[in-house]
Amino acid sequence: MIKAVISGTGLYTPPATIDNDELVEAYNAYVELYNQRNGEAIEQGTLAPLQPSSAEFIEKASGIKRRHVIDREGILDPERMCPRIPERSNDEPSVQCDMAVVACKEALAQAGRSAEDVDAVIVACSNLQRAYPAIAVEVQQAMGIAGFAYDMNVACSSATFGLQAAANAVENGTARSVLVVSPEICSGHLNFTDRDSHFIFGDACTAILVEREQDVAAGNGFDILGTRLKTQFSNNIRNNFGFLNRGDEEGVGKPDKLFVQQGRKVFKEVSPMVAETMSSHLESLSLKAEDLRRMWLHQANLNMNQLIARRVLGRDANREEAPVILDEYANTSSAGSIIAFHQYKEDLVSGDLGIICSFGAGYSIGSVVVRRR
Ligand code: COA
Repeated sequence: MIKAVISGTGLYTPPATIDNDELVEAYNAYVELYNQRNGEAIEQGTLAPLQPSSAEFIEKASGIKRRHVIDREGILDPERMCPRIPERSNDEPSVQCDMAVVACKEALAQAGRSAEDVDAVIVACSNLQRAYPAIAVEVQQAMGIAGFAYDMNVACSSATFGLQAAANAVENGTARSVLVVSPEICSGHLNFTDRDSHFIFGDACTAILVEREQDVAAGNGFDILGTRLKTQFSNNIRNNFGFLNRGDEEGVGKPDKLFVQQGRKVFKEVSPMVAETMSSHLESLSLKAEDLRRMWLHQANLNMNQLIARRVLGRDANREEAPVILDEYANTSSAGSIIAFHQYKEDLVSGDLGIICSFGAGYSIGSVVVRRR
């Protein structure tokens, strides 16, 4: 039987950053403007004034210190409060394609491969910037890859679901190797005027190369020992944007056309589901939590990750066991656990076990158990 191996990873990090103080300063300036402009209604009691945000709250509630973004200025303009990412002509590469190419090239270089060695590209991410042609086909062309490509979306779990699709393709012989790419422009779907969530997301793109075991030199990469996916419908993380609401009656600017969530409910409902999925996945592979050297968890909330790790291990995990990239990147949706994997895998030695686990809207959970070759 053909076995699948992760042989390389890549990361594109937008150079611009916004720290919590800068984000809060812009938000609070927006709040002041809003309250001034609606002074009469607020005084009459028909409209509630907006409350200011605070950098201390953000770090304590989430563990986020700053985020990388495609465009700083638009987000930090209190009169605008969203990134300015100009539309490109059909003759130019899309923004997601540009991000993807950087991450893919790094993944190929890490694996010592070139475009000719790849048979498929899966773009797996939360928000695609257009309906079609698939961004993945554009990336395929930009990289000079033959074969096939497609887009898929399972929100924050897109990359792990993509990894399972890639492993399946390699194992059943439909591709020799597959690139799974997650160009996440989360700042495009975040409501920067919403106090409860304006701090949550950042932008980044990851890439993973999955190859046949027989093609990868001994000692290189990670064996994929197993994947497990789980979904359960919930409205607690939702975004109603789509081509059926183009801004006429539906009002494209309405808050439900951006990211909305019941953060507390998500925390309470998803954490136990994730811990259970990880534990039962390990058990099905005859592995125990104490066998794990590392957990590369989805990066949405530090407290949530600590709780999940505690449930799985039966004790607190340290930062070496469950690395954190949330402080630097914020939540980058499906890219988060892969950024952690990309940045914290080189110190593992042959035989070391780890688990990549994502979770998010759907609800969706993706678990991938790997072993250093
Ligand atoms: N600045 C200051 N205070 C704020 C604030 C802000 N930006 N946003 C909320 N608050 C206040 C609230 O008004 C509330 O005040 P109250 O107690 O007086 O009512 C208090 O802080 C607590 O708010 P709450 O929303 O309950 O915070 P929390 O501790 O649950 O943290 C999240 C919020 C979103 C960080 C957290 O719930 C979370 O991360 N959940 C999981 C989200 C997740 O994984 N989503 C997946 C997305 S892909």
